[in-house]
Amino acid sequence: MSMLKHFLPTLLFFSIPVVAIEVSPNLGKAASDQQLSQWNKDIFPDGQGLPKGKGTASYGKKIYNKHCLSCHGFEGTGSSADELAGASHSLTDNPPDKIIGTYWPYATTIFDFTRRSMPLNAPGILNTNELYAVTAYLLYLNGIIEENAIMNEKTLPAVVMPNRHGFINIYQQQDKNP
Ligand code: HEC
Repeated sequence: MSMLKHFLPTLLFFSIPVVAIEVSPNLGKAASDQQLSQWNKDIFPDGQGLPKGKGTASYGKKIYNKHCLSCHGFEGTGSSADELAGASHSLTDNPPDKIIGTYWPYATTIFDFTRRSMPLNAPGILNTNELYAVTAYLLYLNGIIEENAIMNEKTLPAVVMPNRHGFINIYQQQDKNP
């Protein structure tokens, strides 16, 4: 008995890691670089992360009518889901009309948001050129670009949205007032 008393702490010490391994839920496995690149699709306001491709509003209209109109309405004027164009009043009215054209500060967000989540019932079905085209169509419907303007990884980040300077960059403010 006294022997056991003497060795018990040592026994416990060595048995804990073994027990820990046995009761591990053993969930998942490390994601491969290829899996991570499929998942990690962030697009930054300056266009970093945009894939190569292109599209115009006229092709985008076809994509929109097929995949988006059922929820967002004719020419983006809204239906069961938000209006995406054709603001009926301005951002400074009460209440403000916050849509892409009046509110969103960066055009690249349209591409990013659509690619990761739209159409709501089948996200991911649009290819890169279709995404550029439908983005161009939404910008055109909001009166921000011409109908034949080509949107690609260079031109899309260069689009200046009407509300580009309507947000306060708190990080810059902090830099100015440390
Ligand atoms: C099945 C219905 C449905 C379809 C189809 C659909 N959407 Fe949407 N969409 C929604 C809903 C619902 C929301 C609001 C989601 C939220 O607020 O999280 C939304 C939100 C959006 C927004 C953000 C609007 C805002 O001002 O916040 C954009 C942009 C958008 N959709 C684009 C598209 C495009 C482009 C397509 C076609 C490729 C599409 N959607 C197809 C239902 C749909």
